[in-house]
Amino acid sequence: AERAAFIARLPKAELHLHIEGSLEPELMFGLAQRNGVAIPFASVEEVREAYAFSNLQDFLDIYYQGMRVLLTEQDFYELTAAYLARARGDNVRHVEIFFDPQGHTERGVSFSTVIAGITRALDEAREQHGLTSKLILCFLRHLSEADAEATLDAALPFVERIDGVGLDSSEVGHPPSKFERVFARARSLGLKLVAHAGEEGPPAYVEEALDLLKVDRIDHGNRSLEDPALVRRLAEAGVCLTVCPLSNLKLCVVDDMAAHPLRRMLEAGLAATVNSDDPSYFGGYVNANYQAVADALDLSRAELVALARNSFTGSFLEQNERDRHL
Ligand code: ADE
Ligand code: ZN
Repeated sequence: AERAAFIARLPKAELHLHIEGSLEPELMFGLAQRNGVAIPFASVEEVREAYAFSNLQDFLDIYYQGMRVLLTEQDFYELTAAYLARARGDNVRHVEIFFDPQGHTERGVSFSTVIAGITRALDEAREQHGLTSKLILCFLRHLSEADAEATLDAALPFVERIDGVGLDSSEVGHPPSKFERVFARARSLGLKLVAHAGEEGPPAYVEEALDLLKVDRIDHGNRSLEDPALVRRLAEAGVCLTVCPLSNLKLCVVDDMAAHPLRRMLEAGLAATVNSDDPSYFGGYVNANYQAVADALDLSRAELVALARNSFTGSFLEQNERDRHL
């Protein structure tokens, strides 16, 4: 309880959050009704029962199903506003949000609808509550690089509202090298770069993300620990890792929270952070993630403070804004 209060009071940034993964079953049901979209569940309880996954792909199949209820600008606004309210409740001061435009444009929802709804909620949170944000467009790696290029083209009219690009979805078999050209183009546009790597994929995918995509951060990065030379490199370069403890447990990346690599990451000098990934699907927002991993690994207050500091130093905030939080 004391630890919970300490975590709750810590100012934090969240750097790994898929906005579509914050769709709570209640909102999914409401939007399904409002939009006349059929969903394969009879009740909110049935939805929650379906959230038992044995790997990443199991989850992704349900995640892409769930987002089919999102059709209008208002839907994306309500989705984002609901997440931001939860983040504020956890004393999150800054968020960097991923979105998956290809999950929407392939269903006939326009890029402009998606971005208008999300940014309306982000702007409102900034104006009303001083909650700052960045927006990161993720390419779905199970699709082709040509599809990613077309998505970046569709984003060009909105590029002033987009801070970076990322790479998500099914990792194994879709290495970072597949997206080298589109990441180079995003870099030339001045966008920040991140990629999921080393969640299920091997340490070589983390190296590819650094060497070929030239990413500024690694999302997850767990399996980096299998390669001591890579660990030294990540530590020396101060590469931020956006770690997601409850996600790792729910997707069987770790067998048990007590076996979570976060303590080993900190001991190796890695700039690890704690994030929620897809909180509606994995059972908790930021504070629940700090709590679960701190309880399992018996993290000290100093370690919790270090994790929260890493979340600001690893963020894409301007130096002066970042320093306000440190
Ligand atoms: N899309 C949403 N969450 C993801 C995750 N944890 N890994 C890969 N793709 C995702
Ligand atoms: Zn993720």
